[in-house]
Amino acid sequence: MAEATETDFYDKVFPVPERVREKSYVKSRAEYDKLYKESIDDPNAFWAKMASERLSWFKPFDKKKVSDWSFEPGKVHSKWFEGGKINVSYNCLDRHLADKKNKAAIIFEGNDPNDWKVYTYQDMYREVNKFANVLKSLGVKKGDRVSIFLPMIAELSIVMLACTRIGAIHAIVFGGFSAEALRDRINNCGAEVVITCDGTYRGSKAVPQKATCDKAVDQCPGVKTMIVVKRTGTEVAMKEGRDIWYEDLMAKADRYCEPEWMDSEDPLFILYTSGSTGQPKGVVHTQAGYLLYASMTQQYAFDVRDEDTYWCTADIGWVTGHSYVVYGPLCNGFTSILFEGVPNYPDFGRFWAVVEKYSVNNFYTAPTAIRSIAKEGDKWVDMHDISSLRVLGSVGEPLNPEAWWWYYNKIGAGHCTISDTWWQTENGGHMILPLPGAIDIKPAKAMVPFFGVVPAIMDEDGKEIKGPGKGALCIKKGWPGITRGLWDDKEGRFEENYFSQFPGYYFSGDGAERDADGDYKITGRVDDVINVSGHRLGTAEVEAALTSHPDVAEAAVVGFPHDIKGQGIFAYVTLNHNVAKTDELKKALVAHVRKVVGPIASPDQIQWADGLPKTRSGKIMRRVLRNVAAKTFGDFGDTSTLADPAVVDDLVANRKKLG
Ligand code: WTA
Repeated sequence: MAEATETDFYDKVFPVPERVREKSYVKSRAEYDKLYKESIDDPNAFWAKMASERLSWFKPFDKKKVSDWSFEPGKVHSKWFEGGKINVSYNCLDRHLADKKNKAAIIFEGNDPNDWKVYTYQDMYREVNKFANVLKSLGVKKGDRVSIFLPMIAELSIVMLACTRIGAIHAIVFGGFSAEALRDRINNCGAEVVITCDGTYRGSKAVPQKATCDKAVDQCPGVKTMIVVKRTGTEVAMKEGRDIWYEDLMAKADRYCEPEWMDSEDPLFILYTSGSTGQPKGVVHTQAGYLLYASMTQQYAFDVRDEDTYWCTADIGWVTGHSYVVYGPLCNGFTSILFEGVPNYPDFGRFWAVVEKYSVNNFYTAPTAIRSIAKEGDKWVDMHDISSLRVLGSVGEPLNPEAWWWYYNKIGAGHCTISDTWWQTENGGHMILPLPGAIDIKPAKAMVPFFGVVPAIMDEDGKEIKGPGKGALCIKKGWPGITRGLWDDKEGRFEENYFSQFPGYYFSGDGAERDADGDYKITGRVDDVINVSGHRLGTAEVEAALTSHPDVAEAAVVGFPHDIKGQGIFAYVTLNHNVAKTDELKKALVAHVRKVVGPIASPDQIQWADGLPKTRSGKIMRRVLRNVAAKTFGDFGDTSTLADPAVVDDLVANRKKLG
């Protein structure tokens, strides 16, 4: 393949490599167009066929009630496959036993390269059944919530599937969150059982996990039981009457648990995510629509074949891990690697060592990981044989040109394609992506909508742009994977957040651009949400954490370009009178945010600001703050509505001093 320089490849189209096409489910753009058209022209017929063929039902859904949805203000709702009875663990495990019981379901690759274990479908089935009985013996019933605070260990996939077996709703909290963040999430969902472990590995270190969970649960009056998995052997305090070891419970558990027959629309899980307002939102997904959508997209986005080894590096604490480490691949009967480690331990070649070890074919990761490895040089790649790779996936934030090119050229070596998948927690699965064998790719573009997905780009007046154009990315029609709403949503935040800006449309919060061929490029968030290392964070959450510090009067947080993280966190802080502006205080504020939200929310830069650029009506002009943080001082646009325009000069002068 011809060498491209960093500037000229953007205009090129990279055709599907033959070895990718050979293994693909959809082999040409024409075939994709035909299938897509079918899915849009008669969505109910399309989805009814998919749901009947791909899922195993205890009772079939009502063919007259395939879907019932509306995005109209006041009437927002989504229901799919009503009348059907189904169980997610049955679909992910039981039904594969007949022909795949000895196939690897989960390959656990530990933090230490010598610590790994293969769980066959039979192994998973046995462990999940046993843990389902454990939950039952503790009084957990259908509809009860179970909070899970675990790192990437096989037990995490076991306990989540066990919840689905008895119809309990799991609420997994990413292991890197603080005790306070965990406490709020447990209290919001009202879980009586929490599952955690003694400690967890981060690179060469073992760090406490239960201790964080204890701090949270001490302030969760509803929690009756804490189940503790033994992972690191770290000394922990077990609270009498509340805490029980996982291993002790499992040793006594029966090996079969009848799966609960769930309605298609019964809740499956709650997953907390950030929005532009302060409090995290508990996004709810239900049984059948979610499972169908996750499994279908998992298969089509990466052209995964029965014989393939598939690896999604995401943490199960985020939606990518839910849909693409556990539910999608297992529903499809595929082999999924569950990775406990980090890209730089024991060295920067870890990803490629794992690819080589298991002969990985389909690999799915985030731009931040790609950037952090690429910057260490090619030698870490060259040490390993990664020729098994066929489809490379990306998710979480836009790929920048350098990262795209390195991924394509160095990792893909010209014989892989890149599936840049755009989607969100609320979507359940991929929404816009290039189907690997069908779509020739354009660098850093997510390309085309998945079956049944109808994107719309809106202009500033709220009108839909037809043809090429740039604006706010919305979705026009219902799809099975859409969230059914927010947990405990008394204030109607669901409708307010997603359906009020553009009535009749689901608004994603992202911007997008459509080219003359109809292909999409995602341009990033257009609201006050930032993507830090692919983790979604509301700036309001970080601001709330900062202002909860006794020395802080006011804070405004924006994203700014960061080489590795994509976006870093830049905080403008106004201190209370007579508080000294010291570097020690900056450090204390960073520590405070880590304590309140978690390490992922640590500000990268703090700038003292005696005043913030506010309009006369008191609204902070964030555009100015973003430009100052990014050091694009040239053009602040119209600042005539600012109450005190001199504030901007101060901000600029201080930013320059900060370096
Ligand atoms: C961003 C993660 C550009 C986007 C699955 C979205 C992306 C947010 C892409 C959702 C992509 C995700 N290109 N941006 N391929 N994929 N995003 O809910 O801003 O954690 O709104 O779900 O990530 O983050 P979430």
